[in-house]
Amino acid sequence: MNTALESLDLLAPEAIADPYSFLAETRRRPGLTWSSRHKAWVATRHGDVTALLRDPRLTANRVGTYLRKHGESPGAQAAATFYRVAQEWMSLKEGADHSRLRSLVQRAFSPRVVKDMASLVVELSDEFVDTFPVGEPFDLLERFAFPLPATVIAGMLGVPVEDRDRFKQWSQGLSALVFAASDVADRHESAARATDELSAYIADLIAEREVSPRDDLISHLIEAGSKQDKLTHLEIVAHAILLLFAGHETTTNLICNSVVALLANPSAADALRSGDVDAGMAVEELLRYDSPAKTVIRVALEDVEVAGTRVPEGDRILLIQSAANRDPGVFADPDVLDLTRANAGAHTSFGSGPHYCLGAPLARLEARLALPILLRRTEGLALAGDLSWQPNLLTRGLERLDVTISGLK
Ligand code: HEM
Repeated sequence: MNTALESLDLLAPEAIADPYSFLAETRRRPGLTWSSRHKAWVATRHGDVTALLRDPRLTANRVGTYLRKHGESPGAQAAATFYRVAQEWMSLKEGADHSRLRSLVQRAFSPRVVKDMASLVVELSDEFVDTFPVGEPFDLLERFAFPLPATVIAGMLGVPVEDRDRFKQWSQGLSALVFAASDVADRHESAARATDELSAYIADLIAEREVSPRDDLISHLIEAGSKQDKLTHLEIVAHAILLLFAGHETTTNLICNSVVALLANPSAADALRSGDVDAGMAVEELLRYDSPAKTVIRVALEDVEVAGTRVPEGDRILLIQSAANRDPGVFADPDVLDLTRANAGAHTSFGSGPHYCLGAPLARLEARLALPILLRRTEGLALAGDLSWQPNLLTRGLERLDVTISGLK
């Protein structure tokens, strides 16, 4: 057996390039598998992953666990400001603390607010497509898949468009640490720097909105709740950062991964272009087929027995969404992209249970509107370079997506 597979090294080049083939063998074995490389248990079956996402004996607060064990380490010290903010995030809370934060933030990030973004998504998609050069290679990630969700979430928060590039840098500073990138040496320092600068920037926005509220997320976060229970200043800063950050990378990756999948499956691309398949349904299959979210981490709060495996208290479990999404026990011919797949929505890409992705309606809206526009308005869309996947444990995304087009409509 090769050593990467033996130690279940999810950052090995072959696992980064193709996590699906890499994990197929592990998924055939019942129970959880120990990864000596990550010092964690690995769950790959759809049933185990969905059950564990909802299991109250596990916590999503891997940061608290990490800090208890390694709080004095140089990395944790260097990233102290980042950890102070991150510990406020709902994504790391459980029980009543989590429900309180989630319901307050949900009021600001309501279905109405998301639905109102539809015309902006269409407008921006067209605007970015208009800038594509014909007949020469360009990076679709940089020209389309990144600026679209970044502009939408920045607009929702009330951040001026001209500051967008600063947000890209801050977001990259955070993501190296949050998504466990293996190739960034100073990820603690850059996450701390990004948190400091971003917090100061958002504190200024809060001060402005306190004086003159607008119809934007920062104002809604300030207003959310009642006199007895409102978000604190630090909670608003932390959740503005969380939304901004969560709204950037993952949706960019959904758009790019979908384009790659569609280019490899021209008949599926034709069906989406012509409207023969429902775009909403197609997006569910694209989320299943090559999910931007690869892994979710949980920590056992007590000794637990999972599918015959005993997991001691304090151990980490990696719930591998990309393996669960290709489980042949749930999805027939899982390695085939089928935009009409009836149960595609059973994917685990947005998680499950109490921490189910709060931004799923926005991500779905963006992909459902943007992908058909991209396909309809470009002619001869084709890859113009090799694919290089980011060496991250938690997300699956490309470094860049070089393409060419032969015409624009
Ligand atoms: C949670 C995936 C887009 C905001 C999650 C979780 C996943 C996920 C898997 C659960 C993590 C866990 O259980 O520990 C994705 C994917 C996206 C996406 C694949 C795009 C395709 C967004 C967007 C936003 C967002 C656009 C907001 C602007 C959040 C928040 C949480 C979350 C706030 C935490 C929810 C909680 O803890 O209750 N996301 N996400 N996400 N997501 Fe997303």
